[in-house]
Amino acid sequence: MAKSQASFVCQNCGAVTSRWQGRCEACGEWNTIIEESAASGIGAQQAAGARKGRVFDLASLAATDRPAPPRILTGINELDRVTGGGFVAGSALLLGGEPGIGKSTLLIQACAALAAKNRRVVYISGEEAVDQVRLRACRLGLGQSPVELAAETSVEDIVATLSRGERPSLVIIDSIQTMWSSVIEAAPGTVGQVRGAAQALIRFAKMSGAAVILVGHVTKDGQIAGPRVVEHMVDAVLSFEGEGGRDLRLLRGVKNRFGPTDEIGVFEMTGRGLAEVANPSSLFLSARDEAAPGAAVFAGMEGSRPLLVEFQALVAPSTLGTPRRAVVGWDASRLSMIVAVLETHAGIKLGQHDIYLSVAGGLRVREPAADLAAAAALISSLSNIALAADSVYFGEIALSGVIRSVAQGPARLKEAAKLGFRHATIPAAAEREDAAPKSIAAKPMRHISGLAADIGSKPPRTALRSGRHG
Ligand code: TYD
Ligand code: MG
Repeated sequence: MAKSQASFVCQNCGAVTSRWQGRCEACGEWNTIIEESAASGIGAQQAAGARKGRVFDLASLAATDRPAPPRILTGINELDRVTGGGFVAGSALLLGGEPGIGKSTLLIQACAALAAKNRRVVYISGEEAVDQVRLRACRLGLGQSPVELAAETSVEDIVATLSRGERPSLVIIDSIQTMWSSVIEAAPGTVGQVRGAAQALIRFAKMSGAAVILVGHVTKDGQIAGPRVVEHMVDAVLSFEGEGGRDLRLLRGVKNRFGPTDEIGVFEMTGRGLAEVANPSSLFLSARDEAAPGAAVFAGMEGSRPLLVEFQALVAPSTLGTPRRAVVGWDASRLSMIVAVLETHAGIKLGQHDIYLSVAGGLRVREPAADLAAAAALISSLSNIALAADSVYFGEIALSGVIRSVAQGPARLKEAAKLGFRHATIPAAAEREDAAPKSIAAKPMRHISGLAADIGSKPPRTALRSGRHG
């Protein structure tokens, strides 16, 4: 019989080595390698010569008469949209986020909403006592909700309890880091335990048809390895993010086997829990100083939903040899590209200027469609001319200076019109103008060289020269 061999697993990255080392060679972290028993891993039974493989039937891909898996809608629209139309029965979902961001609050609200629809909902807390969970629910005005609670950390006990009685629709495990399984010989909180516990709970979800939600803490620098490992095992990963000191919370799809991943849900943390923000554009544009040079409104899209945000730029002559470039909420290399295109194709010299660019409201914009708004903000700040308060911008800027069309132009214009904007600077190759709502005047722009003239910037000092195409 093969000798049972211990393996050494890095708790940071999950790399396996055959002997203990002070430093993990895979990720470079110190003191993260811990001995784990190999007896519980894949292939362990084979080594012990336990049994022969069982023959099973293969199904045909073409058999499409199976209905789509049923969805469990919570009625919290911002949550349902991000999950792709509700939780999927029999699936496992990981909700990640920094401690204190509001994961437990969001989930107890989701539980209460489902329980109100006469669904069996179970909330297992491994961190807080039942009284604490109850206290939070009372604070949220959900004290009378028929959600079943427990403070437990043993997965075997949890699975045994849940398998009894009516099948639950939704099970919350808060958090996966606190769970442990007695079949795994490792301390609670280690990668081995987190992985083992997640495996057992995911198996329970598949077999019972309940939707299981695992909560995972992630620190800013991704120190805790547990949830990273779990990400590969679950069907969907959502991340709950917020701006430090602000009440705004964004729920983002990171991975979803049953839906899109580019949707966001917007919430506001209030004294009575998380409130849905149905119209985030007005929130992101609130407290806007309309007369300020350097501000341009970008008509963006987050998934299927249009979202208007303000780009703010500050361009000032630099006293440093290498001017500063600081970006918040946007891609720094994208800014360098826009600056280079403005210099080369529009004759706008920014090489001797410090540039600060920020997306207001703590949002992270990932779309290339924001190029035109960023360029407009830069030119506006440099020339000290405020942009018209009722205009929006969108369009991707190519390295040649050509403004390329972007997807979903009509939806962007419609949202802008809805919020009272009257002008839009858009790619010339975009949808025909008649696609724009009547109340908004679309100004198609073919090349970046036209932007400075359009903003009304005259060459101030030496900063502006007429460009090649200008
Ligand atoms: P919590 O859901 O416990 O965070 P997590 O589970 O992600 O660690 O939320 C903790 C924070 O939310 C805490 O700082 C207090 C705040 N909060 C409110 O502002 N209003 C509320 O109604 C609740 C319940 C919490
Ligand atoms: Mg919590």
